Parts: sequence; structure tokens; C-alpha cells
Amino acid sequence: MKLIDRGNGPPIVWIHGYPLSGRIFTPQTSISGFRHIVPDLPGFGSSPADAARATMDDFADGIIGLADNLSLTKFIVAGLSMGGYIAFAVIRKAADRIAAVILLDTRETPDSDQVRADRMSMIARVEASGTNAVFESMLPKLLCAQTLRSNSVLVDETRRILESASPAGITSALSAMASRPDSTSTARSIKVPTLIIVGANDSLTPPSDSERMHALIEHSQLNIVQGAGHLTTLEQPELTSRAISEFLGNQRNLV
Ligand code: MLT
Repeated sequence: MKLIDRGNGPPIVWIHGYPLSGRIFTPQTSISGFRHIVPDLPGFGSSPADAARATMDDFADGIIGLADNLSLTKFIVAGLSMGGYIAFAVIRKAADRIAAVILLDTRETPDSDQVRADRMSMIARVEASGTNAVFESMLPKLLCAQTLRSNSVLVDETRRILESASPAGITSALSAMASRPDSTSTARSIKVPTLIIVGANDSLTPPSDSERMHALIEHSQLNIVQGAGHLTTLEQPELTSRAISEFLGNQRNLV
């Protein structure tokens, strides 16, 4: 996996969502006092695809393998949306290596039957006619109405990020999301400090999902970011980074 490895201090592994890339965390890699490890998952951004089908465990194994290669005994795991689903799988496999958790715009529940069926038809569409249908349907869901209306620079940047996803990356992520297990008991098992962030206008994983995770995770705090949809890290970079910075300020001794 291609990655950015920037800064010094306790390591944070940032896991991006679908169908995005590590670029969604560019503003957060400026948070000082930490080492930011930002992979592009296989088939996204600048990483080549491994396979056209995958599971959350495959993605989690990739993240744990990356931590092994970098000799990280402990790390902070941060995941946005699908990155959060992967973070739950990492926690199931390697809870003793996780110093703290940052969950952004995600949920612990699995897909409903309808969402699973929609993902299967999207896989068929991508295999038949390429990735355009994914980009067109995702763009308006990732950003809130205010961003779409008034921030053409960010709309263009988001489109470029989407367009860096490969067909195999997309189908592997869709199959992994559709088959992911319920992470309710994983959320309940988390005993390390956890920050939950969500855009107030997130329509994909709305604040009610984050409120439910907040109730499940013992040592969690919840931050609802105004003026953001699903892509809090890019739509409100200062507010999001400040919330993370304040949370991390108390975690320097954990790793
Ligand atoms: C994501 O942003 O990673 C996806 O939209 C999540 C999902 O489709 O469940």
C-alpha cells in the first residue's frame, strides 16, 4: 500500500472511506506532536488493487501488516466511514495494540438487506460499464448542500479523489461493506479513549449513528461538526482538526 508517513510522536493510522483515498486526511496530518500514517487502501488513490472482492478482515489485515512493517507495537486508529468499519475489524484482531480510537462519520451496524442489494447491483454496474455511476451517485452524498453550493474548489478536489479509485478497488470495497459483520459488541468492548466525530449534515451516516456509538463506547466523547456533511475532515478541516487535537492532547502518554 502506498502511504504518507509524516511527523514524529505517537503514531496515528488514518483509514479512509469509500471510494476515497488518504487525501481526505491531508488537513489532519498537520496536527503536531504525532506521526501520521496515511495509507491509500488497495485500489484507491495511488495504491494498486489486490483483488476485485474483499472482506473487512482483508482490509484489517492490510492495516495490521502495515503496522507490523513499521514496527508499531501500539497505535491510535482513526477511520472515516468505511475506514471506521475497518477500524472495528482491526480492533477485533488486535485490541491490545490500539491506544485510542477516532471514529469519523461511521456506524457500528451492518448493512440492511436493501443496502446490501444496492451494493450488489452497483458491483454489476461497475463491472459492466465502469465507475462513472459510482462517482455521480457519491459526490452529492459526501458533501453537504452548503459545500456543494459554495465551495467549488472542494467539490473539484473531491471529484479528483473519487476519480482516483479503480474499478477493482470499488468492487472490493462494495463487497467488503456488504458482508461486514455487526460491530455492536466490538464497540461495547472498546476500553480505550475514543473520539466520535460526525458532520451535523451527514446524510450517509447521520449524527444518530454517532449518538448510538457514543452510548455503546464507555470512554467516548462525541463531537458534532456544524457545516459539514460526510467529509468532515475536508469540509470543516479546522473544526475537525481542533476537536482531534484537543482529544489527542490527553493521549500523548498512551503509546
Ligand atoms: C463511505 O463513505 O466509506 C461509505 O459511503 C460508507 C457506506 O457506504 O456505508
